[in-house]
Parts: sequence; C-alpha cells; structure tokens
Amino acid sequence: MTDIIVRPSRREFLPFSPPLVGEEEIREVVDTLRSPWITTGPKTRRFEEEFSAFVRAPGALALNSCTAAMHTALACLGVGPGHEVITTAMTFAATVNVIEHVGARPVLVDVEPDTLNINPELVAAAMTPRTRALLPVHFAGHPAERDTLEALARVGDIALIEDAAHALPASFRGHPIGSGPNPVAFSFYATKNLTTAEGGMLTGSTDFLDDARVMALHGMSRDAWKRYDQGGNWRYEVVAPGFKYNMTDVAAAIGLWQLRKQERFHRRRVEIVEAYTLAFGAEEALEPPVRRPYVEHAWHLYVLRIRPNLLRIGRDRFIDELTARNIGTSVHFIPVHLHPYYRKKYGYTPSDFPVAVSNFDRLISLPLHPGLTDQDVSDVIEAVLDVVQTYRR
Ligand SMILES: Cc1ncc(COP(=O)(O)O)c(C=O)c1O
Repeated sequence: MTDIIVRPSRREFLPFSPPLVGEEEIREVVDTLRSPWITTGPKTRRFEEEFSAFVRAPGALALNSCTAAMHTALACLGVGPGHEVITTAMTFAATVNVIEHVGARPVLVDVEPDTLNINPELVAAAMTPRTRALLPVHFAGHPAERDTLEALARVGDIALIEDAAHALPASFRGHPIGSGPNPVAFSFYATKNLTTAEGGMLTGSTDFLDDARVMALHGMSRDAWKRYDQGGNWRYEVVAPGFKYNMTDVAAAIGLWQLRKQERFHRRRVEIVEAYTLAFGAEEALEPPVRRPYVEHAWHLYVLRIRPNLLRIGRDRFIDELTARNIGTSVHFIPVHLHPYYRKKYGYTPSDFPVAVSNFDRLISLPLHPGLTDQDVSDVIEAVLDVVQTYRR
C-alpha cells in the first residue's frame, strides 16, 4: 500500500460496518443490570415473542450466536457421522464448521452467477442417500431460491435449515424468511442488521423449538428462570448432552430496541443501495448487485463486483485504493474450499467451484449501514468512481 499516493477528499476513515446502538438500548441494558435477573429470563422471552411476530415465525429461540442456532438445529435433527449436509461454497466458515461439529460431511456446491446464492440445480446433482439436510445461505440478504430448495428437501425427505445470518428482514415470494416451520438461523453479531453484540435466533415449529431449547441449555428439562422464579421448582433432568448456547437478558435488552428500529434501518439501507446502484450502474467497469423481482432483499451487504478486464488493477489493489481514500471495505467471502482445513481434508482445488472463485476475485463489500450520512454515501461513490477513472484501461 505504500506506493499509493492520493490526497483523500474525505478526512476521516469511514468504518465498514459499525453498530448503531442508541440511548434506548443503553437504558434497557442498565435497567436489566439493575434488575434481579441478568441472564436468560423475562427480556429474552419478550425478545423471542417480538422477533417471532416480526418475521411471522411459528416460534423463536434466542441463542448466543447464529453458529449456535445452526449447530443446535443439526444436533436436534440427529444429523451426525455418516451423513452429508449440502451447503454453499460462498459462505462464512461458521456455516460449514457446524456440519463438522456434528461429525457429518459438508458437501459444497457452487453458486448462481448473479445472486451468488447456492445453485439449486447443483444441489439436486449433489444429493445422495446419505444426504440429511440442505443448508443454504441467503447471501448478502438476497433470499436463495427457497421454494425450489424446499421442494428438493421434500422429495429427498431431508431437512431444510436456512442460514439467515444476513436475511433480516427479507422475504421470498411474499413469505418472510423465518416464517416457515423449518429451522432458520439469524445472527445478531456486531455488524449485522440487528445486533445484540453477539447473539442469534432460531425460528421454526414450536415442537422443534421445544427440543432445541433443551439441547441449547445443557439438555436440561427446565431452564433456570423456570426453576428460580417464584413458583419454580429446583428439580430438573438432563435428557441429552446439550450445549450452553442461551442468550442473556443483557443481550436481549439491546435486541428489543434494535428490533423496534428495524423498519427504519431497512428503509435507510434501501436508500443507500439505490444511491450506489444509480452511480455505479452507469459505469461499465462496475457491476452492482442484483435483486430478483420476487424477493425482498435485506441489504445486509452491498457487494460490488469490478470487471478487472476493464481496469489496470485487480480487486486487492482496488481495496487498497479505497482505504487510501479513507473508505473501509470488506470481502464476503473467501470461498470455503480455499481455506486450508477444508482444502486439505477434502482435497479441493480452487477450480472445483469456478463461479465462487471467479467472483471472489472481483468482489468488494462497501459500507452499508443505517448510520451512514448522505455525505458518507457521496464520499463512497466519489472514491469508487475516482479509482475507476484513475485505473481505467
Ligand atoms: C453467512 C453467515 N453465517 C453465519 C455467521 C455466523 O454468525 P454468528 O457470528 O452470529 O455465529 C455469519 C457471521 O458473520 C455469516 O456471515
């Protein structure tokens, strides 16, 4: 980066995705800390109820991460050694790590070139008698082709678990992501559309969630709030070697207010996306993200692709140039099969998933969060277009 000399018109660095936490969240956290109950209790229950109403889910279980939600779902479904779970090559490691955690084999498939979501035709081809679940990711907040995936799961008599870490609020053909009876896992990590610092939510049928609630808390038949609250009973039984994945009331206190702000946050995200796409759509060296007409996109990420054949620099240098102009960025994702653990264990080569790899080489996630001012948005646009103009072939 040392050879990049530019005088940035923006003076301060624009971080990629800081959380937007207001006084309401802070007051609710303090209220919780002053109360006699700080771990899983009344606020977590209220957060579950309000979240499940928001996505029209049959029920919701608050956990300490999306990873925990996916792991719990796989364990409750009895997925384990000898089984295969089909997922996308274009995801964060957590989606695939949880399959390893239960001792099953992750079967990666390539993505569609426009949305970068799992390609349903390749899913169909990857199914075997050992397949127990499909684990699609709604990449960047654009829903995967969930009707086709659901039909494939039905025909194969296997589970559909959705990684909705990016997909709040999103919908597919009018149905909110998370509104079905199958397990759907959301993330409330610090950069996500709704944050509780760390946290997650598992939605699904109430029967399934009853099991998941037990599995996510040591396999105990009764949680602490039920035991210690007035009228509670100290007795419990351990019915499975469960995990310790519960959400605290301190985290739920943040989530309650973040949830109430989601519609406003979403509107601002959409405004920013429209401004970016208007500016970048006219530039042939840039390829803005797509939205299929029948989905509501959560716009968690704005993944801009460059066309390196029209530029004298590649993606890595493009990012360095944006950093020099005080614009923070990120890359989503390094395809799973390029990571040493998966490459070595399953003998993958980069060309096994050519769509994922060729797109990885040219994508950049730009700042997209409701705290961006109009000036921030113009600064991002100006910086991106300046890099294009400077390095056009
Ligand atoms: C696609 C995807 N799945 C899962 C996760 C894991 O979420 P969490 O950190 O809440 O476990 C992430 C986090 O960034 C993600 O991007």
